[in-house]
Amino acid sequence: MTEQAIETYLNENKDRFLEELKDFLRIPSVSADPSHDGDTKRCAKWVRDHLLSLGMETVEIHETDGHPIVYAAHCKHDDKPTVLLYGHYDVQPPDPLELWHSQPFDPTVRDGKIFARGATDDKGQVFAHFKGIESLFKTNGELPINLKIVIEGEEEVGSANLERWVSEHVDLLECDSVVISDSSMFAPGVPSITYGLRGLMYCEVTVIGPSHDLHSGLYGGAVPNPINVLSGMIAKLHDENGHVTIPGFYDRVRELEAEERAAFASLPITDEEFLEEVGAANTQGEEGFSTLERVWARPTLDCNGIFGGFMGKGAKTVIPSQATAKISCRLVPDQDPEEVAKQMEEYLREVAPDSVKVEFTVFHGGKPIVVSRDNPTVQAACRALQKSWDAETVFIRSGGSIPVVATFTELLEVPCVLVGLGLSDDRLHSPNEKFDLDNFFHGILTSAYLYAEL
Ligand code: BES
Ligand code: MN
Ligand code: MN
Repeated sequence: MTEQAIETYLNENKDRFLEELKDFLRIPSVSADPSHDGDTKRCAKWVRDHLLSLGMETVEIHETDGHPIVYAAHCKHDDKPTVLLYGHYDVQPPDPLELWHSQPFDPTVRDGKIFARGATDDKGQVFAHFKGIESLFKTNGELPINLKIVIEGEEEVGSANLERWVSEHVDLLECDSVVISDSSMFAPGVPSITYGLRGLMYCEVTVIGPSHDLHSGLYGGAVPNPINVLSGMIAKLHDENGHVTIPGFYDRVRELEAEERAAFASLPITDEEFLEEVGAANTQGEEGFSTLERVWARPTLDCNGIFGGFMGKGAKTVIPSQATAKISCRLVPDQDPEEVAKQMEEYLREVAPDSVKVEFTVFHGGKPIVVSRDNPTVQAACRALQKSWDAETVFIRSGGSIPVVATFTELLEVPCVLVGLGLSDDRLHSPNEKFDLDNFFHGILTSAYLYAEL
């Protein structure tokens, strides 16, 4: 294969590629919402049929206790490496709907970007690989390496069933490296390899006071108010310097080495640019660390939602019976989600007054990870990115989480290479999620070059 032939094939088929991506994006495969279970199934079948049409030899749907996993393989060479490509076809819920400029499942191109839920996370990035693979089949007649593919439907809800499935299918998944495109580039036109992801521990705490809602005039001041109590508890989770106060929270945290701090500092981004992206007046966080350090390499704790009492319009004088907060922690090596959950529960129970009852639930978690920056697949990915973007590849970490990366690393004992094709302003999980078509087309080239380089 020549790079020229791949580029020509891409140029001749661009319009069709985009139409096919739109078909993929039209399926509302929202994994968190049971009312979309039928769509999620349909999406898995769409992925299966598409992989068959590309020419993959084996394509199977594996049922799980949750949403199905699509597995494919095409292994024709004894003397070539085997790559496992991972991605997810499920998407986050699209709400709040009223903030979208076009419907989330009616993919719309504006200004060189395609807008839809899943555009960048992760359908667009997965589909760039599908089209890279197609380009290789069509220009080369055969894939230059052995390829296995796993596209799951539960990444956005924690990948619990996939993790079990991987542990039961270690032989089926045998490979030399894992390639994942489910993250972002450092900046437009700056090809990037992500070598670290934060982990996650997500929980919910409910504070229960009186057995029923009470008139706040008749009882206020003499009974525990769960919202007041809960907000006091939340306030105790950080000190005035932005450190998390939970005992033991930092015990396992690997400190950043001077070299890595210097590498972060040398990347071309200012706090002003960062603030423009987030739309806030100022940055805020753990004292003694830069913005990139805070999001890439420090553990954090955030409330993701809080509710209780009267949430309707206008005023209602009431003391609620209970209040709930959803709280998550982003973790860094070598923190362990289960241990952090225990520490959090213990601390919350300790700071809660005796006048209330505390209920604590853990949802999902994922382990933090730093992956190897020195293996043949990383090197091939570097060259492929370089060729497709005609720019130097940078190494970055990310604050996001992909739970299965730690599972692959531990169980398959091979390097994972994270070739993010998105951009940091793609608004993933948010209204008006988009994927730049420039990234889509460069991603197709990167994918084809990567497999060829190997
Ligand atoms: N693709 C994202 C994670 C991501 C985004 C990593 C950008 C690096 C850069 C993934 O789909 C995601 O959203 N993960 C969840 C975790 C999951 C357990 C819900 C997350 O990070 O919140
Ligand atoms: Mn994703
Ligand atoms: Mn996501």
